[in-house]
Amino acid sequence: MALEDAISQTKNMINTAVLERKIDSNLKFNGYQKVYFYTNENIKGYLDLLNFQAKSKALTVLSGGDQAFSLISKGIRDIHTFDINLLTEYLALGLKRAMILKYDYAKYLEVLNCFYDGCSIDDLTSIIMDLSLLMDFRYRQFWQEIANYNYQLQNNIKYYSPLNLMDILSCGAFDYSTITKRVNYLESYDAYELVRERIANVNITFQVSNILDVATNFDNNQYDFILMSNILDYLDTYYGSGWDKAKLLELEEELMSIASNEAVILLNYLFAFKKINGKTRAFRGSGITIKDLTDEEVKIYLDPISLEKSFTKVYDGIILKRVKK
Ligand SMILES: C[S@@+](CC[C@H](N)C(=O)[O-])C[C@H]1O[C@@H](n2cnc3c(N)ncnc32)[C@H](O)[C@@H]1O
Repeated sequence: MALEDAISQTKNMINTAVLERKIDSNLKFNGYQKVYFYTNENIKGYLDLLNFQAKSKALTVLSGGDQAFSLISKGIRDIHTFDINLLTEYLALGLKRAMILKYDYAKYLEVLNCFYDGCSIDDLTSIIMDLSLLMDFRYRQFWQEIANYNYQLQNNIKYYSPLNLMDILSCGAFDYSTITKRVNYLESYDAYELVRERIANVNITFQVSNILDVATNFDNNQYDFILMSNILDYLDTYYGSGWDKAKLLELEEELMSIASNEAVILLNYLFAFKKINGKTRAFRGSGITIKDLTDEEVKIYLDPISLEKSFTKVYDGIILKRVKK
């Protein structure tokens, strides 16, 4: 049922884009939505600040999989992922995992470039078909159906060139020129090969979940790391104007119940964060400012390799909660 649903909803996305001759740029998360196939965060920047010694278990938002695959680089072997967007698992744990299994470093980057810059529909279809053979059964079924559907629908259209399937299914975070700086597993040939060696033996699971339900959905676990990307920027969708410090403490308390004794929780990723500005929002859409944070919620600046790097004195940052039980 879940697979049928995924296939039919994804076909709808393709069909709508092709009929309307446009790529939807709306940012939505719930249900089947476009995926951030490549991160817009400096994941390497923050993972390199953390201590992974004797740590083995992590919970992370899945998104395009870059957080999870970078955790493999750091030696984490038990990775539980969640996301509210049901399409993420097909792109990250289906397509991207198969790319890592199949390609060496140079080929991976070449195919990535081809996905986003000038891959013909014939090439794209045959790449996906080849990759599908390395996927778990459900993902293989999905991608074979989707690649065929896309090909049949778009190959014979007269007068128009085909829309790029990857543009239809993923959203604009992709920045080829900085991707090797952003994620640990692409920082070098050796780092990539290490993840290739490990990936088949690492346990990566996925569960559809809202961040507000993870403590319940993942109870009975004790994670060394919990990575939440910048999801908390969007909690006003659920809390409205009630997204405040009390709600943050409530959420932290829940997350602590699934955190190990010395866990690190990445509460939020801060984009284009002004360094000297006490009134900066800690979570977009909330009334919580950086000044409201306590010593337990540490705020750290990262090197500016974000897309916004043309700004001066603007840094990305993170808010970490270091657990001490
Ligand atoms: C907030 S987005 C931004 C992209 C992110 N910065 C990255 O580099 O991957 C990350 C992921 O969070 C998911 N997400 C957003 N709100 C969520 C929620 N309330 N619960 C669970 N996942 C959520 C989205 O579906 C998306 O896949």
